[in-house]
Amino acid sequence: MIEHDPISSPKLRDREGIAAHRFYAGFSLQFVLDCFSSAKLETGAIVLDPWSGSGTTALVAASQGYKAIGFDLNPAMQASSRARLTSGAESSLEGILEVLEFESLNDARSLTATDPLCRWFSFSTVARIRQIQREICGDEALSIEGVSDLSAGQCFDLQALISACRILALDARSSNPTWTRDCEVGVYVRPESLRAAILRQCTSMKNVAVRVTHEAVIGIADSRRLPIDDGSVDFILSSPPYCTRIDYAMSTVINNAVIGGKVWARFDDMRRSLIGSPCITRMETSHIGRFGPTCSALLHSVSDHQSKSSKSYYLPNLLQYFDGLYQSLQEIARVLKDGGEAVLVVQDSYYKEHRIDLATIVTEMLYETLTLTRRIDYRRGRSFAQINPRAAMVAKRPTESALFFASI
Ligand SMILES: C[S@@+](CC[C@H](N)C(=O)[O-])C[C@H]1O[C@@H](n2cnc3c(N)ncnc32)[C@H](O)[C@@H]1O
Repeated sequence: MIEHDPISSPKLRDREGIAAHRFYAGFSLQFVLDCFSSAKLETGAIVLDPWSGSGTTALVAASQGYKAIGFDLNPAMQASSRARLTSGAESSLEGILEVLEFESLNDARSLTATDPLCRWFSFSTVARIRQIQREICGDEALSIEGVSDLSAGQCFDLQALISACRILALDARSSNPTWTRDCEVGVYVRPESLRAAILRQCTSMKNVAVRVTHEAVIGIADSRRLPIDDGSVDFILSSPPYCTRIDYAMSTVINNAVIGGKVWARFDDMRRSLIGSPCITRMETSHIGRFGPTCSALLHSVSDHQSKSSKSYYLPNLLQYFDGLYQSLQEIARVLKDGGEAVLVVQDSYYKEHRIDLATIVTEMLYETLTLTRRIDYRRGRSFAQINPRAAMVAKRPTESALFFASI
């Protein structure tokens, strides 16, 4: 059943894409195109990505004549994936930056003292960023629902601003691509440099825009409770959060801070609600008996492990992860039409010496509802764990697998 390379690798290549759209866990465009060609969908087919991230599945689907639906719980991912769906023709940024009074911020300190952007930027720079953000989004503090109400042009402009801020907060980068540090001294950015950085992002986003011909809706929803009718989706292409303790929320902390308002006020709650979050919120699971033999054996090994933190932290964290994954997979099976197909990309990882064979675990969790028809394995280069030299001692080269399921 294991094949090699008929469909190109899901992984974004190092130089693929531009800063504004690069997401650590993003799919490559070619992989998504290859999956659609192999599925031979009819025009107008409904394509779903329940963990939509940077929205590659929805973008390619809407450009290939399918109706795309994407969901994510992170409003920053919603804003960035909606920005990718536009050509930038509706952008107002050039006008906004033209009229802004970059030099006239007198009392920047009192304007910004509690602003989350002060973690990376000087008071006057924060005041300028906030001034631009309000020109784009309006004066009212944005709520999570408010991000859904932004127009396509507003999302495009907001993403150009976010991307410029990520680049300008140079000191915030760390060797871990999913983590952002606070800066010791807030970076002062000269007004003209800020303006130029935003316009550069705007131009590069316009240059790589993909022509979208069909409707694409990217919403905020939990994969454990999809707001979609039973049997209504033709094709699902997605990648669940991996079991590598990647902190997807923290990788977008600057994005959420730029959006600010009520979105920032809910950042910690949002972070905790993500599947794969390193924070433990729920210790009980009612589905544990249904996780399948591979997952059960792994949980027993962790429970029996001699290290102190295995029982106190890693076991509840893994239970929480697998419970979220299990519920989401049942939702995927529920919303898929008879004759529909789901492609899920997963990656294995290790807990101490124990392999977390996510491909087998996902297949076993779906055993009663979907059939595995094909599996393609891709050997990955350095994993996130191997970036950390201490972890590199035990980390093995991960395998990423594309799993093709059909409804039974
Ligand atoms: C592996 S990434 C998906 C990457 C995507 N394939 C792309 O091309 O960008 C997983 C995504 O799942 C989201 N996520 C985590 N828990 C979720 C949940 N319960 N419901 C919806 N989305 C969730 C994370 O915010 C993250 O963006």
